[in-house]
Amino acid sequence: MKEKDLKTFNRYTITAALPYANGPVHIGHLAGVYVPADIYTRFLKLQGKDAKFICGSDEHGVAITMRARKEGITPQAVIDKYHHLIKDSFAQFGIEFDVYSRTSAPIHHETASEFFTHLYNKDEFVEEVSEQFFDEQEQQFLADRYIQGNCPRCGHENAYGDQCENCGSTLSPEELINPRSMLSGATPIKKETKHWYLPLDKYEPWLREYILEGHKDWKNNVYGQCKSWIESGLKPRAVTRDLDWGVPVPLKDTTGKVLYVWFDAPIGYISATRELAQKEGFDWKDYWCKSDTKLVHFIGKDNIVFHCLIFPSMLKAHGDFIWADQVPANEFLNLEGNKISTSRNWAVWLHEYLIDFPEKQDVLRYVLTANAPETKDNDFTWKDFQARNNNELVAILGNFVNRALVLTHKYFEGKVPVLGALSDLDNQSIEAIKAVPASVTGSIEQYRFREALANAMELARIGNKYLAEREPWKLAATDIEATGTILNVALQICANLTVVLEPFLPFTTSKLRAILNIPKYNWDSLGNAELLAEGHQINAPALLFNKIEDAEIEAQIAKLEATKEANAAAEKQPLPLKGSVTFDDFGKMDIRVATITAAEVVPKTKKLLKLTLDTGIDTRTVVSGIAEHFKPEEIVGKQVCLLANLAPREIKNITSQGMILMAEDQNGKLQFVQPGAPVWNGGTVN
Ligand code: 2FM
Ligand code: ZN
Repeated sequence: MKEKDLKTFNRYTITAALPYANGPVHIGHLAGVYVPADIYTRFLKLQGKDAKFICGSDEHGVAITMRARKEGITPQAVIDKYHHLIKDSFAQFGIEFDVYSRTSAPIHHETASEFFTHLYNKDEFVEEVSEQFFDEQEQQFLADRYIQGNCPRCGHENAYGDQCENCGSTLSPEELINPRSMLSGATPIKKETKHWYLPLDKYEPWLREYILEGHKDWKNNVYGQCKSWIESGLKPRAVTRDLDWGVPVPLKDTTGKVLYVWFDAPIGYISATRELAQKEGFDWKDYWCKSDTKLVHFIGKDNIVFHCLIFPSMLKAHGDFIWADQVPANEFLNLEGNKISTSRNWAVWLHEYLIDFPEKQDVLRYVLTANAPETKDNDFTWKDFQARNNNELVAILGNFVNRALVLTHKYFEGKVPVLGALSDLDNQSIEAIKAVPASVTGSIEQYRFREALANAMELARIGNKYLAEREPWKLAATDIEATGTILNVALQICANLTVVLEPFLPFTTSKLRAILNIPKYNWDSLGNAELLAEGHQINAPALLFNKIEDAEIEAQIAKLEATKEANAAAEKQPLPLKGSVTFDDFGKMDIRVATITAAEVVPKTKKLLKLTLDTGIDTRTVVSGIAEHFKPEEIVGKQVCLLANLAPREIKNITSQGMILMAEDQNGKLQFVQPGAPVWNGGTVN
């Protein structure tokens, strides 16, 4: 066995990625980071471990200033609004942080400044002057996100300096064609500026040893990403930026410069721990500087490089700190087949979910864990949400618990009955209780939460099957002692469920404990088939879960459909103008008002209608590609505008004499261009 496997930890520092305070939190956040982190910390605490669960809002950087611009408010107003919304959402979903701080807090500014100064004084940074894009009109250096231009790959007109959202290419601002400042619209110039860099290349040998040699136990996705970064060669990373929002660089003559958000944000974990330590009166250094502390970062896959390579290098450079023992990063959760996106409103927002599904926090926690993106991207669908609620939580867990409780009240006045002689089935169920710790503990310890939940639910499944097979309701009339034995075993299963499900479904276990009239047992009690004493009085039953009806799910799907339509409409951009024409060119076109007198689909085509038109001058045939937009009978009698002197063309063996003028609406549907009021056929359009 390796030395590391024998290592015992005396305390745990569990961090969950600091969410940007630039929008509400959604199911992707919950599934990827906060639910797994909460499960793990609850599990440690149930074991009586000394664990601190640390989080807070990430309130600096361009993400915040961009949002402020978009909403027309100050960055401070943005962070105040979203910090509280996010904090409330987490609390409502039972994410039990020991501290939820924020990086705008004075203690964070102090901690981040001290950290930078310490590294600066140790000569750990490299100073470098380079040319950056600068907006002369606004007298401001421009972050990559503040520069737009034409994408060099696909030609998209509004690509950003770091990425083209049309083709997904990663870009640098230098690559943009016709770059322009998003602040003033002006063409930016290049200007020299000084920044401080952390020489990651210097830490490469150490990172190899720490991760590639020392942490082969990390998840494949995390280890693999680290390996590929390290092997492609690490370069110095700038830790300062020219921006007016953030922690000011604590050096002389650095007005207008702040610490890079990815430098200050992870230090936020330390600041938040300091804040908690001040409140609770412990030494924060125990949780960050002692080698018998286990540091675990819960993050999404887009944060791997920062938490596995950059932050540990910062901590190593500082010299006083420990670094992560585990970084169980998750992949992404998609929504109904598409990437979750804040800007496209393609998300299930936590605060909105609770309005539509009040008191159903555990249902979402359950579905997001059962379907967690632990090894690959996964998809959240409303149909799956409904099925898991109705077929698993209601039909298995809820049904089993309810039967056990109701029957105990019916036959034993709500008192735990005596355990009598045991049948084989009774014994099997007791063995199932005893086997639970082994089947769940290891999975949680290895950060395999979906597997752990499935194993925990297996106990409810076994209980449900046990009652179905033993049918105590039928036995009661003839053998009350056997009935009592079955219900005793069933109630012991219920009591064990309050322990094993506590990390996953804390609202449900709290409700069940209240009904069973029992305290919160610790993890050591799990597997004990005598948790409830004979004669113990339980309270009146109440349903743990309710069925979710089709109409509720259809309403959610309709909401997403509406979002899709709104996005499609918003993203539709007018085509660029064509080259100019002379007045004479325009005058050559003879556009007339005409009335459709007959219409039919052109045989063997999907798109074409054969129209008969009364032009006031003649009756003619026009073939028009509008069959996917209109049924023939809808358009007979309509007045339209016709380019009447277009040279005739043969289309599907029909001579088409002219072209009907159509306009495309924002949803891509064609509409007729018509006079505002009826006019005579043959009237000219000028
Ligand atoms: O990706 C994000 O949402 C970042 N705000 C995460 C920061 S994690 C930590 F470093 F603070
Ligand atoms: Zn592009």
